[in-house]
Amino acid sequence: MNILGIETSCDETAVGIVKDGTEVLSNVITSSLDLFKETGGVIPEEAARQQLLCIQTVLEGALHESKLDWSAIDAIAVTKGPGLKGSLIVGTTAARMLASIYNKPLIGVHHTLGHLSSVWLNNPEPTFPCLTLSVSGGHTDLWYRTKHTNAELLGKTLDDAAGEAFDKGAALLGLTYPGGPAISKAAESGNEDSFILPKPLQGKPGCNFSYSGLKTALKVIINNMDQPIETEVADVAASYQAAIGRHLLSRLKIALEMKPDVQEVHIVGGVSANTWLREKAAIECKGIIVRFPKSIRFCTDNAAMIASAGYFICKELGKKAYEQFTTGANQSDLSG
Ligand code: KG4
Ligand code: ZN
Repeated sequence: MNILGIETSCDETAVGIVKDGTEVLSNVITSSLDLFKETGGVIPEEAARQQLLCIQTVLEGALHESKLDWSAIDAIAVTKGPGLKGSLIVGTTAARMLASIYNKPLIGVHHTLGHLSSVWLNNPEPTFPCLTLSVSGGHTDLWYRTKHTNAELLGKTLDDAAGEAFDKGAALLGLTYPGGPAISKAAESGNEDSFILPKPLQGKPGCNFSYSGLKTALKVIINNMDQPIETEVADVAASYQAAIGRHLLSRLKIALEMKPDVQEVHIVGGVSANTWLREKAAIECKGIIVRFPKSIRFCTDNAAMIASAGYFICKELGKKAYEQFTTGANQSDLSG
């Protein structure tokens, strides 16, 4: 079964085609992020305008890359939310039009369920139950999953998301947006033990996250410096990156204690591209399989993950998956 996925929830315009939920036949992504380097964040109206301009080219590129034509596409999956309203309208309108023109079933996919599915792109299917830490610019969630369409939310951020902490931290350090890659690069030559940062929610039960305190602590450190020189920026970046990562892993550890039947741990979303997190998670969760998306292009927003999620929604829900959907998905309802 070949599913064509469309993803336009933030600054990306992406179309991908996936066979049987795992084999990526194409994955074309354009981003308007370069336009927002100076503003330090996405301007929603401008992102939607760019998506409108390039969606047809991206769609044609994805079909060309897959070497398929419309007759070989079995269904269309599209991100229904959450995300920027104007951006979602571009993707869902295109999907509805294509479904109607080519007479294909249409499946609405929750953006988070897309990220959760990114682990088995060009990779084996998961063994359930599994724990998934979903960490991006907009969300930091910990899910316990017994099947593709059944997820229990064990914890979420009480304030900023982990990616947001990277982005805001980078802005304070005078680094570029998006902050994750910039902090990670600056941290390469730094010492993560140089600065002591708070351990959020330490000693508190449960698996929720909190990042606003870390950001405030970083601000205090930077305000106490004169103009920081390169080695100081490296040390601060390394300490901050480690503090963000350690907080994620501390919650993951609690979740593993709560759910001893877990077979695999998955870490997905833009922050799962982080090298520090990848290395330390494997050490922290020893004895259990820890999996990340196979390629960095599958960590950040892409449409192959939406196509994959669409496939498994169809497999588990059958025709119910084709029901009408509206934009603006409910956080606790990943079923599509
Ligand atoms: O999943 P994503 O592409 O978009 C959202 O749905 O938010 O995630 C983007 C986030 C940004 O906050 C970015 O700073 C972060 O992922 N990110 C990283 C890395 N690459 C991207 N964070 C840490 N280390 C990275 N290498
Ligand atoms: Zn995302």
